[in-house]
Formats: sequence, structure tokens, C-alpha cells
Amino acid sequence: MGGIKMADLSIGYLGMKLKSPVIIGSSGLTGTVSEVKKAAASGAGALVLKSIFEEQILNEIDLFIQDTGTADDDPFHVGYQSMLKEREHEYEEAYLYLKDHAKEQTLAKYLSFIEESKKSVDIPVIASINCISAYNWHYFARKIQEAGADALELNVYVLPSNTLKSSAENENVYFDIVEAVRKQVSIPVTLKIGNYFSALANTVTELSQTGIDGLVLFNRPFHPDIDINTLMVNAKYLLSDPSEYSNILRWIALLSGRSGCPLVASTGIHDAGSAIKLILAGATAVQVVSALYDNGLETIASINEGIGSWMGQKGYKTIDEFRGLMSQQNSSNPAEFERVQFMKRYSGIV
Ligand SMILES: Cc1cc2nc3c(=O)[nH]c(=O)nc-3n(C[C@H](O)[C@H](O)[C@H](O)COP(=O)(O)O)c2cc1C
Repeated sequence: MGGIKMADLSIGYLGMKLKSPVIIGSSGLTGTVSEVKKAAASGAGALVLKSIFEEQILNEIDLFIQDTGTADDDPFHVGYQSMLKEREHEYEEAYLYLKDHAKEQTLAKYLSFIEESKKSVDIPVIASINCISAYNWHYFARKIQEAGADALELNVYVLPSNTLKSSAENENVYFDIVEAVRKQVSIPVTLKIGNYFSALANTVTELSQTGIDGLVLFNRPFHPDIDINTLMVNAKYLLSDPSEYSNILRWIALLSGRSGCPLVASTGIHDAGSAIKLILAGATAVQVVSALYDNGLETIASINEGIGSWMGQKGYKTIDEFRGLMSQQNSSNPAEFERVQFMKRYSGIV
């Protein structure tokens, strides 16, 4: 290869230099130290650890306090018992699950998982909390920072399914969580959200101005299905399809240049082509999960190679040179990103 200069895939994100814009997203692929080691060896720029859930934090706080000798007046104590009781009804399934798995020292294990992961790999390690409220668990964010995480991703997915809750009530949850967590930590905080907002562009823009360091667009919910033989509800399509990147492309293109923080694309990125498109739309980085379940961790190297060789063909030396070139603001045909119906096709006129 002597003499041929390879494209520079490095990017700046969360105040750090990442060697690639491809990040391994939070999943079972980053759930143990040995998996984290394998994931880090794939060529990814960073990885997000499997999430710990807010319910797990609240469920074990008493044990954690006892084990760590935390004082009685520690904020962890405040209201958490009554909260558990109150929410038991609201999220019955989650609590029944947790009762079965209660007191497994999940919190202490998650902290040592972060510590060990940090010691074992040389790429940034982003911890992750899956949460749906700002209810007293946020003190645990500080423990995550103390354990050595380079950053913290908050996975907040409030399905607006409650017929009695207004859009403002649902949206406030996101702002409350960001405010509570940012008071606890000085490491970068990112927010991974779904796309069920009544005024998506407005809410995302406002969230981007809360001081967070990145927005991951979007998390992907499990899809419910009905088994017509057993008449049971179950989850289907656990992994994304490669066509799903297109909805993310729309929103990254629309919001790029208008967001107060970096945007990271997630869902449906299975190959170099979709990764390049998302960066052209304005993404700072892309997260990949399903493609790795489908085709193995080698997919990361193939995405890196694909981006590098495309850059070579186009004459780009750095990722910054082409990021956002095709965002709506920079597009020669900006209306394309907002087009949702085709009159020609829908009215039958060919
Ligand atoms: C098996 C599995 C486990 C996952 N676990 C988590 C998790 O713990 N925390 C989280 O934020 N996202 C989790 N996700 C969601 C992924 O991080 C990602 O947002 C989603 O799969 C869409 O990206 P993809 O199309 O690249 O798969 C999980 C996804 C899968 C398939």
C-alpha cells in the first residue's frame, strides 16, 4: 500500500477524537466485558454499553445504599419507596420482572462492568441508562461517572400512549431528565430518543439547546404482533431492516444545521452506503446494531473500508469535508426532504 494515503475517518464527538464515525450502539453486543473487548477490536470509533434501566436502579437502591454505607439522608432515599409503590401499578410488567430478579446487585455489577470495560479497551466507552422519568434515580449517574465512563447516553422513550397525557406533559419528561442528570455529572451527556413527538423538529431543536452533547436519532421500538394461533401478543422484527435508514435520513437532513448539538444517526444503518448518506445529510456519527447481529462484528471494518474507498473516489480527505453537504439547508432540492405524498402516484395519474 506504500505511497497511497488512506482517507482519514476520524471525527470529533463528545470532546474526544474517534478513529471512525461508526459507533457500536447499546445492545447485547456490548453487555459483558468480553463482548466489549471484541466490539472494540472491530474498528469502531466508540461503543455504547448495554443500558441499565431506571427501574433496576430504583429497585436496588436500598441494597446499594446498605452495601456502600450511604448515609440515611442521602438523596437516594428521598421518596423512593413511595415512588416504587406508586409506579408498581403503572408499569406492572416491568416490576413483576424486577421482583423475580430483585437484589442481584445489578447496580454494583454495572459499575464494575464500566470500570472493567474502560480498562480493557482503547476506544471511548459510553454508558447508557434507559429511563422514562427523572424520579430520584438520577443520583446514580454520578456513580457512572465515578466508574470511569467517558460519556453517558440517556435512552428515553416515552410512548405517548396515555390518552390523558398532553403532548406537553410527555415532552416535559425529556427536559426534566436532562436537567436532573446534567446536575449530577460533568462528563458529556447524550440523549437517544424515539420519533413520536407531535412537533418533532421543534422539540428536537429545543432539546438540542439544553446543554446536551449529542442527540441520537432515533431509537427503534419493538414492534408488537399478534399470534393468530395462540392469540398472544408478542414482539416481532427485533432487528431493523436496511430500508429503515431512510426515515432517519429525512430527519437528520431536516435538522442538521438547525440543531444546537451534534446529531448521531441510529436505525437501519447496515452498510457503508447508508452510513455515507447519513453523514452527507449531516450526522456527526452513525450507530450500528442490527447489522452486527445479522452479519457479525466484521461489518464495522467493511463499513469503514467502504467509507474510505468512497472518499478516495470523490477526493475527500476527511469526514468533515462532506458532512452535511446534502442537508436540507445545503440541498439544491430542499423540498424533497419534506415531501410525504406523491400526487402523481396517489391520484393514479401517470
Ligand atoms: C437485541 C437488542 C438489544 C438492545 N438493547 C438496547 C439497550 O440496552 N439500550 C438501548 O439504548 N438500545 C438498545 N437497543 C436498540 C439499539 O441500540 C438500536 O437503537 C436499534 O437496534 C436500532 O439500530 P439498528 O437498526 O442499527 O439495529 C437494542 C437493540 C437490540 C436489537
